[in-house]
Amino acid sequence: MLTEKKVSTSLGELHVWDSQVGEPVLFVHGFPLDHSMWIKQSDRFADQYRVIAPDLPGFGMNASYSGTLTMKQMADALVEMLDGLELTQPVTVCGLSMGGYVAWQLILHYPERIEDLILCDTRAAADSDDVRQGRLKLAAQVLASGAGLVADSMPAKLFAPVTIESNKPCVEITRQVIQACPPETIAAALLGMAERPDVTGELPEIAHRTLVVCGEHDVITPPAEMEQMARSLPKAEFHLIPDAGHMAPLENPLRVNQVLESFLKR
Ligand code: MLT
Repeated sequence: MLTEKKVSTSLGELHVWDSQVGEPVLFVHGFPLDHSMWIKQSDRFADQYRVIAPDLPGFGMNASYSGTLTMKQMADALVEMLDGLELTQPVTVCGLSMGGYVAWQLILHYPERIEDLILCDTRAAADSDDVRQGRLKLAAQVLASGAGLVADSMPAKLFAPVTIESNKPCVEITRQVIQACPPETIAAALLGMAERPDVTGELPEIAHRTLVVCGEHDVITPPAEMEQMARSLPKAEFHLIPDAGHMAPLENPLRVNQVLESFLKR
């Protein structure tokens, strides 16, 4: 069972759901979502592992965040949160998309705090100039007119057509989570992602055992790019998830959980 906790960090108080017993697995959500995107993994693993699923600073139940929210700041805050939970043993970190960008910062700056690494639907490269400009423009638009713009446009990119057709409640809940995200936080995370470093050159140095999963219909971080990324990681295995897009853990939880289970139990 998950218990809700609040932990002080230098980026404010973080809400975190913690199942308290077992080998710890830290689940880091994507943009602009919250811990609830891991519901299928929490349900499956909370009685076997110590599932730790925070809302990142500014997101979910946390106070909104204004300015620029860098991936490194979020990684620092997560380490402060682990300290606040008195968790000194290394954790396996599982990040999706923006959560993966934060996971890179954890592994590069706090390698001793990480046991194994799980990367879902994410990338190692920085933004191209076009993508960066697009993020800056979108941040200004969201600050001017609210989260609705992102809530209405993003689900079509997050989910595979098959999910949009056959799992409307899941798509609608995700839309609502985005709609509820404070515009200041959305803008701050867009600015932070725009300035995130390219970590491609560091991949061959990452000595941690790594699992890479990607939805076969992911149009945000496509399978070919993720497979290439996995090849650069010395101890990585790559799994393509059928019938799923960018939100593979929500779209095909059965398959994602099978892959996670066999990775975690080794
Ligand atoms: C996410 O799912 O976290 C975002 O799509 C990441 C991004 O915009 O690069």
